[in-house]
Amino acid sequence: MHVLVIGSGGREHALCWALARSPKVARLSCAPGNGGIGRHADCVPIGVDDFDGIVAFCRREEVGLAVVGPEVPLVDGLADQLSEAGITVFGPSAKAAILEGSKAFMKDLCARHGIPTAAYRRFTEAGEAGAYIRAQGAPIVIKADGLAAGKGAVVCQTVDEAVATAEDILGGRFGEAGAEIVVEEFMVGEEASFFALCDGATALPLATAQDHKQVGDGDTGPNTGGMGAYSPAPVMTDEICRQTMERIILPTMRAMAEEGRPYAGVLYAGLMITEDGPRLIEYNVRFGDPECQVLMARWQSDLAEALLATAEGRLAEHTAAWTERCALTVVMATNGYPGDYAKGSEIGGLEAAEAVDGVTVLHAGTRAEDGRILANGGRVLGVTALGDSIAEAQARAYQAVDAIDWPEGFCRRDIGWRAVAREGAES
Ligand code: AMP
Ligand code: GLY
Repeated sequence: MHVLVIGSGGREHALCWALARSPKVARLSCAPGNGGIGRHADCVPIGVDDFDGIVAFCRREEVGLAVVGPEVPLVDGLADQLSEAGITVFGPSAKAAILEGSKAFMKDLCARHGIPTAAYRRFTEAGEAGAYIRAQGAPIVIKADGLAAGKGAVVCQTVDEAVATAEDILGGRFGEAGAEIVVEEFMVGEEASFFALCDGATALPLATAQDHKQVGDGDTGPNTGGMGAYSPAPVMTDEICRQTMERIILPTMRAMAEEGRPYAGVLYAGLMITEDGPRLIEYNVRFGDPECQVLMARWQSDLAEALLATAEGRLAEHTAAWTERCALTVVMATNGYPGDYAKGSEIGGLEAAEAVDGVTVLHAGTRAEDGRILANGGRVLGVTALGDSIAEAQARAYQAVDAIDWPEGFCRRDIGWRAVAREGAES
């Protein structure tokens, strides 16, 4: 089978890395790909927003499965356009991708179906939002309704900050994505990411992960797309996973089917593990980045078969196998990220990094030029290691990071700290 992965980030490199291991995959392409993906797939210069180009490629090159990586094309209907052209696609329809595309939709769905999440109200008018915020008090969370590249949620510690944030977002900080806001109760607990494959009727739980959203050590500084991740998430015990399936994932899948929006693809639940059990923070309609990197490091069964079974509605007959080992990814980013940064600096030492036992360097924002690898984005590399514990995976990942010669880049030095502390306390 010819498989096409759509996207150019670390998540798509991880997907290509795992798909290349599948005996079902005779040919693997990636549109547009990046400087590292070429090791596993043919990179084709078609942008993720060029829907006609993607459909034409799939038809011409007899793609048997198209795998859509990022959320924006899903929300904009790429899966629908591919299906209408008769191409088998992994990724939800636009009607189902609204779970990520509109936080207001997601919150209303949870309210209608009793799915545990933070209490909330929706607003389009700053004065009304301000009155509600003052009545609720702080801390409180203000979110743009639409897609804002992971930056649309602001946890506010004071009422004044919250009122100002509401005004700012409704005033256009995120453009149309902020024409409506959701004002939410602040939930207390530990965060974790839970992933399930869904084919509209059946949900297959995958592994768990935790990521580090903030740019600085000790979880400080502005939010980013994610500076590192590890799997499994120790807070996600078997009992919490069971509650997550029973109270959140399965009711959501049934609700979406009932409301004429059957969900097929990977459902990524951002959770707050509270004293009352798991509560939903948000849904994403794609794999997390960098959570996908650690999931694919641990995935042992045939990924192509799993994604195809999801796309074809055959998940009921499917299982997924994982290594018991732990995986950890350290993201290396260009100096300045998540603010302004320069492109084009050369990265050395990649072979030395991959010589470390259990390590793979997955590329995010890179491009290959004349045999050299150049930085081409904010988040640039995901140094991914397996180990018998999170602590061992962490030590290997940082040994590999230290072998990389890239003065223009940086990383956090504490990825996995929470899990490593737990392991230390248990031993
Ligand atoms: P989101 O974009 O909705 O995932 O939010 C980004 C981050 O903001 C989350 O990962 C949490 O750290 C935090 N956050 C969002 N909503 C809440 C909430 N209701 N209570 C506490 N923290 C939240
Ligand atoms: N790492 C968070 C995300 O992919 O949304």
